[in-house]
Amino acid sequence: MGLFSKPIKSLEDLFVHMLQDIYYAEQQIVKNLPTMVEKASNAQLKSAFSHHLSETQTHVKRLEKIFDLRGEAAKGVTCQAIDGILAEAKEVLSDCSDREVCDAAMLAAAQAVEHYEMTRYGTLIAFAEQLNQSEAARILGETLAEEKNADKTLTSIAESRVNRMAAE
Ligand SMILES: [Fe+2]
Ligand SMILES: [Fe+2]
Repeated sequence: MGLFSKPIKSLEDLFVHMLQDIYYAEQQIVKNLPTMVEKASNAQLKSAFSHHLSETQTHVKRLEKIFDLRGEAAKGVTCQAIDGILAEAKEVLSDCSDREVCDAAMLAAAQAVEHYEMTRYGTLIAFAEQLNQSEAARILGETLAEEKNADKTLTSIAESRVNRMAAE
């Protein structure tokens, strides 16, 4: 059975497994973002992290709504990918001594998180549509739009300020 809690025999099983994976991932992000809000020096970056923390709390609730629609208890399974991205971010930050360079490191880590979420939500939406679960697809789409928007905001903060400050 490998790493999975339950054998995955159908697209439906895989869909549920991936919902549990992203449910765990979103919860880890909720736990980690407050440290990023606290550590960010750049005001725009701080506020982007803080705004996305509140969005991420909504992402957790939306997933609970989907489990609820399915008549299942919300449950997470360890997502090694998000654990790896977050562990790597912590390691880089602990080695980083310059404020501005730390901002650039946190911003890069946050974009890795957003891209992970975007790929997962993209797949989940495609699976939900294939399985004729249009309400789940719609809810997942709301979150995907916010992940994309968070990523765009981070890109503009990086390009307009944070990378230049880190280079000085
Ligand atoms: Fe999210
Ligand atoms: Fe996100």
